[in-house]
Amino acid sequence: MCAKLPRGLWRDAQRAADALSKSRSVVIAAHIDADGIAAAAIASTALARRSAKSETRFFKKLDEGALGALRSDGAGIVWFTDLGSGSLGKIEGMQAVVSDHHAPSGGSPAAGANGQRLLTDFSTVEHVNPQLHGISGANDLSGAGSTFLVALAFDDRNIDLAGLGVLGAIGDLQDQRTRRLEGANRAILEAASKSSRVSEIEDIRFFGRETRPVHKLLEFSSDPFIPRISGNEEGAISFLLELGIELKDGDEWRTWTDLTGDEREKIISELKELLLAARRRQETVDRLVGKVYVFGSEAKGSPLRDAKEYATLLNACGRHGRPEVGLRICMGDRADALAEGVALLRDHRSAISKALAWAKGSGVIRMRSIQFFDAGDEIEDTIVGTVAGMLLGSEGADRTAPMVAFAESTEFSEEPKVKASARGTQDLVSKGMDLSLAMRAAAEKVGGVGGGHNIAAGATIPADKKEEFLDSLDSIVTSQLTSRAQRRG
Ligand code: C5P
Ligand code: C5P
Ligand code: ZN
Repeated sequence: MCAKLPRGLWRDAQRAADALSKSRSVVIAAHIDADGIAAAAIASTALARRSAKSETRFFKKLDEGALGALRSDGAGIVWFTDLGSGSLGKIEGMQAVVSDHHAPSGGSPAAGANGQRLLTDFSTVEHVNPQLHGISGANDLSGAGSTFLVALAFDDRNIDLAGLGVLGAIGDLQDQRTRRLEGANRAILEAASKSSRVSEIEDIRFFGRETRPVHKLLEFSSDPFIPRISGNEEGAISFLLELGIELKDGDEWRTWTDLTGDEREKIISELKELLLAARRRQETVDRLVGKVYVFGSEAKGSPLRDAKEYATLLNACGRHGRPEVGLRICMGDRADALAEGVALLRDHRSAISKALAWAKGSGVIRMRSIQFFDAGDEIEDTIVGTVAGMLLGSEGADRTAPMVAFAESTEFSEEPKVKASARGTQDLVSKGMDLSLAMRAAAEKVGGVGGGHNIAAGATIPADKKEEFLDSLDSIVTSQLTSRAQRRG
């Protein structure tokens, strides 16, 4: 699989593995979301196989507090997974490896403007990031993917960890753009399908293929939104009954994967008809079906069998304060940890649907090139970004401007802070929008921090600077969109 990657990226992974090999004790510092948890499981397994001692700590973001705690930890080396690239300047001086895919911060020793490594001989940080080699960190390689490369550089036998690399990419929605995994992610997928039972199949893209009753899977569909069915339980039930589909098998609700192939095909072709009859564009109709990823060794009906459900369960753990439960699941616990994960998933789904309903009713304010809503303390800062993305994708949303959402930051700090999350569309990215650059610059201007990806980014800023932040974000995004348009013109 290494042959399918830029040689420089593979070389960085090898340098990182060498640096880690020199230490018998490693602290893994991981991001709290699904990608970060999958990355931590890869790192932790790879180290355990080398008999190196490791301990995993999870972080929402790397701020001074987090870095201070890591510095005073006294570990031989810190392995940052799915975070770190946005804080290279601050990490420099620590013995560290960063395997990440977020936009590297400018002016740092390891990330030159043209993707060249600078001053590496003097740096204490080994940096593995697809963006240093012209590979998209938003679509083509995740934090778990970068971390998997380091594990593979340790030992070929770590190829069986590729499934966790697939999981991280799905957790970060890297399949969204083309409805399948692309680029370096496909190389990891190939490794996963050879080394473990991970398969790619073409199927409906709605959430809950394994675990939701079919009418619920249809009711909660939003991408694409289906008239009379999305958000309408009765509509979904009568649609299925009219097609002659049995909803139950004995006392049990049937799930999508319980249906026969013929039943599934019948439903998909009727849904396509409904969308076409409602004059939806062909691109919208096409979003109904895509590649989905199946972990064949997980039990049928388990939330771990479908990659999207597995990743959502990990997000539920991480975003509600229990990332270590997700880590145990990734490392094989199918007993207590899985039971706790399933309970967290239930709470997560209800928190998201409540938050989305609140956001829909709250009123979105449109500026020149951005739109925003302020959730105050109504929505947790860890899920407000997910909600912003869902709102932007929902029926009737204005998709010509990125959605920005504020929530009160729950982190302890001396001055009150707010969390901002921004989500855009592929179309806006192709017009020149880069939310990572925009959020970082607007946040830094008001004394905050920010970063992420072109299509999705976040920031934390002083609470009394929201307006100033919005004005500067709006003007940055405006100039991103207009300068590209002018260059074209
Ligand atoms: O921190 P991290 O990189 O793991 O998070 C990536 C974020 O980008 C996720 O919250 C995901 O929802 C978002 N994303 C998106 N659309 C894409 C790709 C990623 O909203 N096409
Ligand atoms: O928190 P949220 O889901 O909105 O984050 C979107 C993306 O921005 C994630 O990839 C996250 O890691 C990144 N982010 C960042 N720096 C911040 C906040 C978020 O790089 N201060
Ligand atoms: Zn990630």
